[in-house]
Amino acid sequence: MTFADPSPWLAVFGRAHPVLLHAPLGLLPGLALLEFGAVLLRRPPPRGAVLALAWLCALTAAAAAASGLVWAGESNDGSPTLGQHKIAGLVLAGLCLVVAVLAFASSRGPFRIALVLACAAMFPTGHLGGEMTHGSDFLFAPLRDKKPPAKGPGPDGTPPPASEYTRTIAPILDRVCTSCHNPDKQKGELLLTTPEGIRKGGENGAVVVAGKPDESPLLARCLLPLDHDDHMPPAEKKQPTADELAALRAWIEAGAGF
Ligand code: HEC
Repeated sequence: MTFADPSPWLAVFGRAHPVLLHAPLGLLPGLALLEFGAVLLRRPPPRGAVLALAWLCALTAAAAAASGLVWAGESNDGSPTLGQHKIAGLVLAGLCLVVAVLAFASSRGPFRIALVLACAAMFPTGHLGGEMTHGSDFLFAPLRDKKPPAKGPGPDGTPPPASEYTRTIAPILDRVCTSCHNPDKQKGELLLTTPEGIRKGGENGAVVVAGKPDESPLLARCLLPLDHDDHMPPAEKKQPTADELAALRAWIEAGAGF
């Protein structure tokens, strides 16, 4: 078994990386607070608590790093960000281990230096990791993007009201039609997922005739008897309700706008 071909449970462990990594991320600053807080208060740091926290931190950091390696193997993404994050994460986990070992030493100097270094290593590691999950622009985008978002034609920038099509018709088609009339599966060469598709019609031409519901195959086919060959949706499939048919009729009568 290799990292690139993990067993299902190993893969689950790898995918737990975004969860696991939060343990050392919280424990490490906690440890620093305990140690340096005591220094600030001119008290001896609580040795037992520091030791326990340092080892908890080292073990969870090791678990986070290991899961990260498994996950990286699965994703097979050779991006430079992943490579840098991997190195930063291994350095961080290594530093956490050093911190834990030095926590035993009676002289506090090396322990404190390692602790500060480990805390510092969290920033590039976390940043590079976040860049992969959220995109490199994520954190500061709200500061940079001063351009107002695209606005509707409303004078005060309110978005235009959703059309009848968007509000009512598209959801109906979505519920009862688009399982067969979608980009992957255009039965009858008819696409009902977009206004363009509906305007274009199917292999036999237009499916909506504005203002004429009974001449619009989109509705007329639904109104055929269930056992008719041309009835839509096919008899064994879920059917539109009377309300939905009435909404389709009203929409076509009103001009079938989008
Ligand atoms: C289970 C799959 C399925 C579902 C769901 C379905 N259709 Fe169809 N549809 C087909 C098949 C297959 C064809 C082509 C054979 C035919 O024309 O009867 C077709 C053809 C059509 C045509 C004729 C297109 C042309 O130009 O020939 C229309 C109109 C149509 N469907 C409308 C609908 C509407 C409206 C719905 C939802 C209310 C719907 N379909 C749901 C399978 C489906």
